[in-house]
Amino acid sequence: MPVTRARRIRRAPPAHLGCGVDVVELARFRQVLKRGGRAFLRRVFTDQEEAYARARPRTTVLHLAARFAAKEAVIKAISQLEPTRLLAMKQIEVRNDRLGRPRILLHDGRRKHVAVHVSLSHVDTVAVASAIAIRP
Ligand SMILES: CC(C)(COP(=O)(O)OP(=O)(O)OC[C@H]1O[C@@H](n2cnc3c(N)ncnc32)[C@H](O)[C@@H]1OP(=O)(O)O)[C@@H](O)C(=O)NCCC(=O)NCCS
Repeated sequence: MPVTRARRIRRAPPAHLGCGVDVVELARFRQVLKRGGRAFLRRVFTDQEEAYARARPRTTVLHLAARFAAKEAVIKAISQLEPTRLLAMKQIEVRNDRLGRPRILLHDGRRKHVAVHVSLSHVDTVAVASAIAIRP
């Protein structure tokens, strides 16, 4: 890399935006659920997330897979802003508002100085999520 470019990167101000994306294959996710069982569910999903998925019996696994993808996407987005901030899966919660829009709650006891937005989508075979983290 030319010296001038390296200097420019070193001097760059801290990022204000981070982005992340994740895709989950349903067939593999079903296997993970089967292998991990209740312990996996409890480690990854909040009670509210599980209740949301179970309230939709024909598509429960899709909603769980989408939430799993959302958590991974959020971890990627936040790590671009705060590389040392370590979040466990369960500390990232997807909560749908009354219009069905997914919102992210972070349960790590830190000041809310980063806003995170996600978008989810799923079909029979895959679930995807994208996330944007914003530091004002
Ligand atoms: C809300 C809508 C965009 C969801 O799209 P979809 O193709 O049915 O479903 P997807 O798998 O892509 O997305 C589902 C996810 O969208 C998210 N979602 C739901 N409502 C949402 C909204 N109002 N805004 C943003 N995201 C929304 C949810 O996270 C949902 O997943 P979840 O239930 O697991 O949380 C769609 O139902 C809709 O209302 N489209 C408006 C356009 C329309 O009415 N077209 C019909 C005539 S062509």
